[in-house]
Amino acid sequence: MQDIEKLQFLSEDQVRQIAQGGTPVFVYSRSRLAKSARQALAFKVLYGLTVRYAMKANPHPEIIKLFAGLGLGIDASSGFEADVAIKAGVNPQKIQLTGQELPANLADLLKVGVGFTACSLHQLEEYGKLARGKEVGVRINPGAGAGMNNRLTTGGLAASFGIWYEYINQIHTIAKKYKLIINHLHTHAGTDTSSEGWLNVAKRNLGFLSQFPDAVSTSLGGGFKIARMSYEKSADLQEISIPIAKLLKEFYEQTGRKIHLEIEPGKFLVTNAGTLVTRVIDSKDTGKNGYNFLVIDGGMTEIIRPAMFGAQHPLVVVPRNERKSNEVTEYAVAGHCCESSDVLTVVPGDPETLQPRKLERAEIGDYLCVEGAGAYCASWSTVGYNSFPAAREIIID
Ligand SMILES: Cc1ncc(COP(=O)(O)O)c(C=O)c1O
Repeated sequence: MQDIEKLQFLSEDQVRQIAQGGTPVFVYSRSRLAKSARQALAFKVLYGLTVRYAMKANPHPEIIKLFAGLGLGIDASSGFEADVAIKAGVNPQKIQLTGQELPANLADLLKVGVGFTACSLHQLEEYGKLARGKEVGVRINPGAGAGMNNRLTTGGLAASFGIWYEYINQIHTIAKKYKLIINHLHTHAGTDTSSEGWLNVAKRNLGFLSQFPDAVSTSLGGGFKIARMSYEKSADLQEISIPIAKLLKEFYEQTGRKIHLEIEPGKFLVTNAGTLVTRVIDSKDTGKNGYNFLVIDGGMTEIIRPAMFGAQHPLVVVPRNERKSNEVTEYAVAGHCCESSDVLTVVPGDPETLQPRKLERAEIGDYLCVEGAGAYCASWSTVGYNSFPAAREIIID
C-alpha cells in the first residue's frame, strides 16, 4: 500500500513545462478521455445502449464536446448543467435531466427536447402541470445502496434521491391525473466494482420495471468504480455487462419487452484522465513526534475529496530541475487553505486521521502532481475559499 506512485500520463518534462504557465493547473488528457468513452460504449447489451456522461464529474466544455462527438449523451443534474451542455453544442435531445431541484427554466428545456426524470412526487406533479400527456422518467430509490460510506451511497434509507420504492402507487396516481406516460425508469444506488454488485442493482431495477408497463428504457445510473491508487481495482464494464444482458434477455422472454439500457458513468470516464499540477511552497515539521509537512499551492480549493471522505489520490513529486537522488521521505501533504481539514494524506475513509505517504524527497519549488484528479475535483471544490482564484484547466492531446 505504500508503493511510490508514478505519473499517469505526463512526463516530468511536460510537468515542468506546463507549470511554467502557473500552478495549480488541471491537465486533462484527450486520448485518455476518448479511451474511457470507448470502454463505456463497449458495454454489451441486446436491445440498445445509451451511455450518458454524468457531467457533474467534470463539466469542462471541451470534455463535454469530446464525449458528445464520440456518441455519448449527457446526464445533467441541474438545469444549469443542461444549459452548459447545450452551450457546449450538445443536441438537447441527448440530455436527460435527473436532479434534486426543479429548474426555473424547465419549460424552456423541455421545449428544446431535454428529457426529464422526476426524482420526487412533487417533481412529478409539477412536471404533470407543465407537460400533461407527455412522456417522463421516474427515479426510484431502490431501498438499498452501495458505496464506501453514506456520503457516497445514493440509495437506501439515508439517501434523499429518487422516490422511495414503496410509493410506486402514488407515482401511478399522479401519472393518471396528468395522463403522463412513464417511459423510463431510473435507479442509481452508489458505487460498486463487482459484476455481482451490478447484477443485484439490475435485478432490483427490473423488479420495479414490471410495475411500469410503458417503460421502454431503464437507467442503472453511474457509480462504476475506477481505481486511482495502484492497489485499487476498477470496475470491468464488459464483464459487468454480460450478466446484465442475460437478465434483460430473460425479462424479454418473460414479458415480451425489449428494454433499452442506459448507464451514466461520471468518474469512470474522467478520473484518470486528469492530473492537478501544484508547486511545493513550504516544508515544515511538528517536532520529533510529529509530522513532516509539505505544503502545496493547491488543496481543497481544487480537491476536497480527501477532506470530505478520506479519498486517496496518488501523489507524485517532480523535481523542478533534473533529479539528483531517488531518496524517499514520509510526508504529510497539506493544502494552502487556512483549514486543518486541508490535507491530502489521510487514512482511507477517515479524513480525521493523518497518514503520511512515502514520496520522493521534495524541496520548496518542486512540483507535486495529484493524480486521478479528472472527476469531482475541479467541479466539486471550495474554489474561492481564502479568496484563492480558480485553477487553470488545460487539455492536452
Ligand atoms: C443519477 C446519477 N447518475 C450518475 C452519477 C455518476 O456517478 P459516478 O460518477 O459515480 O459514475 C451519479 C452520481 O452521484 C448520479 O447520482
